[in-house]
Amino acid sequence: MTKDKVLIFDTTLRDGEQSPGATMTHDEKLEIAELLDDMGVDIIEAGFPIASEGDFRAVSEISRLAKTATICGLARANYKDIDRCWDAVKHAKSPRIHTFIGTSPLHRAIPNLDMDQMAERIHDTVTHARNLCDNVQWSPMDATRTEWDYLCRVVEIAIKAGASTINIPDTVGYTAPVESADLIRRLIATVPGADQVIFATHCHNDLGMATANSLAAVAGGARQIECTINGLGERAGNTALEEVVMALKVRGDIMPYETGIDTTKIMNISRRVATVSGFPVQFNKAIVGKNAFAHESGIHQDGMLKNSETFEIMRPEDVGLSGTSLPLGKHSGRAALRAKLKELGFELADNQLNDVFVRFKDLADRKKEVYDDDLIALVRQNDAAEDRLKLKHLRVVCGTDGPQTAEMVLEIDGEDKSITATGDGPVDASFNAVKQLFAHSARLQLYQVNAVTEGTDAQATVSVRLEEDGRIATGQSADTDTVVASVKAYVNALNRLIVRRGKTAPGVDTKGVSYKDAG
Ligand code: KIV
Ligand code: ZN
Repeated sequence: MTKDKVLIFDTTLRDGEQSPGATMTHDEKLEIAELLDDMGVDIIEAGFPIASEGDFRAVSEISRLAKTATICGLARANYKDIDRCWDAVKHAKSPRIHTFIGTSPLHRAIPNLDMDQMAERIHDTVTHARNLCDNVQWSPMDATRTEWDYLCRVVEIAIKAGASTINIPDTVGYTAPVESADLIRRLIATVPGADQVIFATHCHNDLGMATANSLAAVAGGARQIECTINGLGERAGNTALEEVVMALKVRGDIMPYETGIDTTKIMNISRRVATVSGFPVQFNKAIVGKNAFAHESGIHQDGMLKNSETFEIMRPEDVGLSGTSLPLGKHSGRAALRAKLKELGFELADNQLNDVFVRFKDLADRKKEVYDDDLIALVRQNDAAEDRLKLKHLRVVCGTDGPQTAEMVLEIDGEDKSITATGDGPVDASFNAVKQLFAHSARLQLYQVNAVTEGTDAQATVSVRLEEDGRIATGQSADTDTVVASVKAYVNALNRLIVRRGKTAPGVDTKGVSYKDAG
């Protein structure tokens, strides 16, 4: 059976990054784009160029760096947005402009356009985009709550004006599989010119049906799925790339479609997106959750030992999890560390390896067995040389007979400052010490602790999200001492916030741009 190709359009850097708190730094965006390109994503939606200088710079640079993927930028239905988008994507080998407008009754009311006025706007803006770029995608936002007749009418207009991809967004996660397939089928069957374009599906997960709705749309004739790594995205998120790609791979018998994704790269990018976005993956998340391939119950283990297919429909190696994962220990040398890191997807330069090796030895002294996840946490410790704040010393007194105190030395701009602070518990006392040494008005939005591996000597990974005047920064760290990991994560978030203070005006980021302003 020959399989139809389904294009994978990744919007982690646009719809995913738009999720409150998931803001990524410029370098992180470039790194994620490189991983997406490398894993075979067909189209990368790299950002919303009009939203901020930062978004524009990221989309421009990703356009220049991309090797094979088409690079796409988002633009509302006005000339200014579209021009700015073109200026950012035009450097790509294969650029695309993605322009959209809300077509449902609720969305039409926002710019106060009647059906005819909106139809005219669509014609004008798609024509304008097409005059700049050969590859134009058009989306009727909230398509699934738009009157179907009107939807057919505007899709026809967009096709006639030159759009080559028509994306049908389920913006609020409202549709269901049967309807999702029917809608695409109806558009293909009735809209003149529909056979000349590719229909795309873009689903949100508000009712937990994004993956099912996307696959149903493919059954209905869509040949592009829009998705994000780990299902990152506003509210309940977008369709998860790893879910649709693996569903098509595992159930090729009933869904005869193929993607160009190298699935062995899934785990690595999932972990990386979780780290840089500050949105950890839930343990029982399909495909990439920590428990997705764990078989702990006695019956399961027995069955697995006899034949792994008893309870496994795909192999861990298919998604980039190595089958054997013997832990390293304090006697492991540099060569063993290098080999293990390579297996985990990290190819480090010699100086980087030296740095990680020192931290590995330190960890192995404190922890008998160093597992894969420990190493990943270790590699991702981000003590950048340019950080203004560095934790030099921390001693905490805690227990049943308070007061809890934290004695701390923090290097601020190269100068050591020390203090002893109290608080409601060791973490609170330590955070108070940081605040007293480096006064700031940032508010703690999220404080989250996870054990990297099992056992009481496990490392804790801590995520801290801070908000200051509309700017959000997330910091992470890992250590066998939970309080040390917490303070390092807090300091990491502060360092990122300081960088952000210098770069963007408050509130002027992707989230600051209103979709309502379609005019
Ligand atoms: O969900 C949505 O409607 C979108 C559009 C901008 C395509 O993200
Ligand atoms: Zn969306």
